Amino acid sequence: MSSLAASDHPTVVTPAKVIQPAWVRTVHWINAVAIVLMIMSGWQIYNASPLFDFKFSSNITLGGWLGGALLWHFAAMWLLMVNGLVYLTLGFATGRFRKKLLPITPAGVLADTKAALTFKLSHDDLTRYNNVQKLLYAGIIVVGIVIVLSGLSIWKPVQLQYLTALFGGYDVARYVHFICMATICAFLVVHVALALLVPKSLRAMIIGR
Ligand code: HEM
Repeated sequence: MSSLAASDHPTVVTPAKVIQPAWVRTVHWINAVAIVLMIMSGWQIYNASPLFDFKFSSNITLGGWLGGALLWHFAAMWLLMVNGLVYLTLGFATGRFRKKLLPITPAGVLADTKAALTFKLSHDDLTRYNNVQKLLYAGIIVVGIVIVLSGLSIWKPVQLQYLTALFGGYDVARYVHFICMATICAFLVVHVALALLVPKSLRAMIIGR
């Protein structure tokens, strides 16, 4: 007796494969909102005592003044931290980080960068990240952890003095915090551009399939 595959049978509809599970989509979009709130209120806080010779335009800051911006920053901080902890816990517990983000090899990154620059990188299988994606995602997760830890050390430099000392003191922690913010902004420019260039990846991050 011959057995039929679902695809051979005209009336059987195979459900589309889940590319991004619901928990990943939920934490991803909560994170995106929290990051935007953190960055815009952070720029307003920076303007009250700039580290460099420039200020951010008030058109792109949040909070109106230092006090208002601090309230936004600390409110969004809880969202970012709790959501980030859920992502890290589930990422390790479900094996997602191991399966999706590893291994990352220098040869793989080089080969995929070359393929991307010559428009030969395939986006057919959305369930697998290429080496450049893996590097960017693993890297931005580390930057996310460092920005939270450096933020905690400049928020509570007395209570968390060992953490602040780990960064080399309050002043260095401020620079580290700023550099992480700039790295996240640079990541976002590339990340959003790529999501728009490959709309089916954006669709999968919204509806899962
Ligand atoms: C409006 C802004 C954003 C858009 C449109 C967007 C879009 C996407 C899309 C489409 C994917 C799936 C990518 C793929 O298949 O290659 C993705 C994954 C990812 N995004 Fe975003 N994203 C945004 C904001 C952010 C932010 C702010 C961060 C962190 C700072 C971030 C970090 C990540 C990470 C780490 C992944 C991989 C998640 C995993 O597989 O566990 N995204 N994003």
